[in-house]
Amino acid sequence: MKILFIGDIVSKLGREAIKKVLPGLKRQEGIDLAFANAENLAGGRGVTENTLYEMLDAGVDYFTSGNHIFRQENWESLLQDENFRLLRPANYPCTTPGRGVSITQTPQGQQVLLINLLGKTFFNPNVSQTTHCPYETIDNILQTYAEESLAAIVIDFHAESTSEKLALGLYTDGKASMFVGTHTHIPTADARILPAGTAYVTDVGMAGPLNSVLGVKKEIIWNLYRYPRPQRFEWVKNGRTVFQSVLVNIKSRNASDSITRNDIILEDVVT
Ligand SMILES: [Fe+2]
Ligand SMILES: [Fe+2]
Repeated sequence: MKILFIGDIVSKLGREAIKKVLPGLKRQEGIDLAFANAENLAGGRGVTENTLYEMLDAGVDYFTSGNHIFRQENWESLLQDENFRLLRPANYPCTTPGRGVSITQTPQGQQVLLINLLGKTFFNPNVSQTTHCPYETIDNILQTYAEESLAAIVIDFHAESTSEKLALGLYTDGKASMFVGTHTHIPTADARILPAGTAYVTDVGMAGPLNSVLGVKKEIIWNLYRYPRPQRFEWVKNGRTVFQSVLVNIKSRNASDSITRNDIILEDVVT
């Protein structure tokens, strides 16, 4: 089984990259399922009904998310409606609307468990103080699904720190087919099969504007770093655009045969 995982899709330019690349890539590579992180899908923050439909139509099969998923007005209903195939991190308080785990199926009917978790390090204190320990959460989830017939287990750990991601990746080695990091929008060069068989990458990257800071106009971020006042964010809407992803050949629910980066640069994309 082949699973493609795409990093955070950032705003309209990111969505354009998905529409231009994903349908052909799925056909060409024989991809069974394509997952993507949706936390920056709509205007750079959160999701809307229209942007989710746009990406489902382009071939994304299921979405994970992260700390920005609650930014648009109707986030509660979108997370609760299973038609949108959208997760929020599983280690948010259990009263948080939506779910952090789901079983989805390949076109051939094989069951894949998708799990979304959030890191604790370098997040706003009111995020990191309310989320549960990702180690305990993943242990509980894997225990819950231990008897389920699964062809693959996929984990998206949405976290800032490279060491936090590598540590949890090594902890889940041999317990999941693949473990990928998201959130930084910067792809890492360490895609590999871990010693016990799990495919791993610290960060997948993003789909979005290359000449930006994580999707945002660079001048705004310069001001943010230089002056002690808040800045209103604007996202880059045209230009060089990246589609950053990893392609994994799944062996079983706890191992994979290979993981390769699949990063594409699109020139002069206009939205
Ligand atoms: Fe993000
Ligand atoms: Fe994030």
